[in-house]
Amino acid sequence: MNVITLASRKGGAGKSTLTAHLAAFAHGCGQRCLVVDADPQGSLKLWHSLRPVDGLLLQTAERGVDRLLAHAMIEGVDWVFIDTPPTMWVVVGEAIRAATMVVIPARPGLFDLAAVRETVATSREREKPYAVVLNAAPVKRDDRESPVVTQARAHLDGLGIPVWGGQISHRAGYALTLAAGASAAEVEPQSPAATEISRLWTAIERSVAAVNAARSVTAGTQAGIDAGTRVMKTRAA
Ligand SMILES: Nc1ncnc2c1ncn2[C@@H]1O[C@H](COP(=O)(O)OP(=O)(O)OP(=O)(O)O)[C@@H](O)[C@H]1O
Ligand SMILES: [Mg+2]
Repeated sequence: MNVITLASRKGGAGKSTLTAHLAAFAHGCGQRCLVVDADPQGSLKLWHSLRPVDGLLLQTAERGVDRLLAHAMIEGVDWVFIDTPPTMWVVVGEAIRAATMVVIPARPGLFDLAAVRETVATSREREKPYAVVLNAAPVKRDDRESPVVTQARAHLDGLGIPVWGGQISHRAGYALTLAAGASAAEVEPQSPAATEISRLWTAIERSVAAVNAARSVTAGTQAGIDAGTRVMKTRAA
């Protein structure tokens, strides 16, 4: 079982949005998925309540995440996606400790990028693979990313913080589909939003596979982290 924790100290970075779209996408690929809403704001609990019952599981984490994960393992869940609050509460520490990989959404602006450092520090302390995902970025023009995205990458590179090679653009479709209890890929599988989520999911899946493979071969945590990070940084097609 793999655990993807979405965390960032910054409110509104896109944790809940990306958790929902990724979990729905993986679920649509036939994976047995559990969403853990560890944020008392309950955004994903609300989203899930709007969905038809289709096998995508959701639990809230009032009593912590460890018991939920132990139960999910017994139930044969393949992927757990944990949405966390914009704090450093105990539950966030627990979610990062339980993670196979930490995904840190950040909007490409100075204040947003500064706010990732705490989550990066916690991920490093806990020896977890992690990567920043640039979210709500200006849509590419002629397949060229906006200067603000290029600048964000350079800033994070300078700090030695790995960044996913693709981007999640600012698109109304991300919010509109969630409001209907759905996801971008479920409503319009060929849409640009669905394509971006598909690319992010592919990168996460490959990265986690690299982490797990390196760990099983070398029994080295750092080798696993390095292998997973290399995959996430690969420029998306
Ligand atoms: N890629 C995007 N395109 C358009 N709107 C987006 C995108 N990502 C997030 N949003 C919008 O930004 C707002 C904040 O997003 P979201 O709730 O996912 O952030 P969050 O990190 O979970 O916030 P919090 O820290 O408060 O839990 C929401 O209204 C959401 O619809
Ligand atoms: Mg949220």
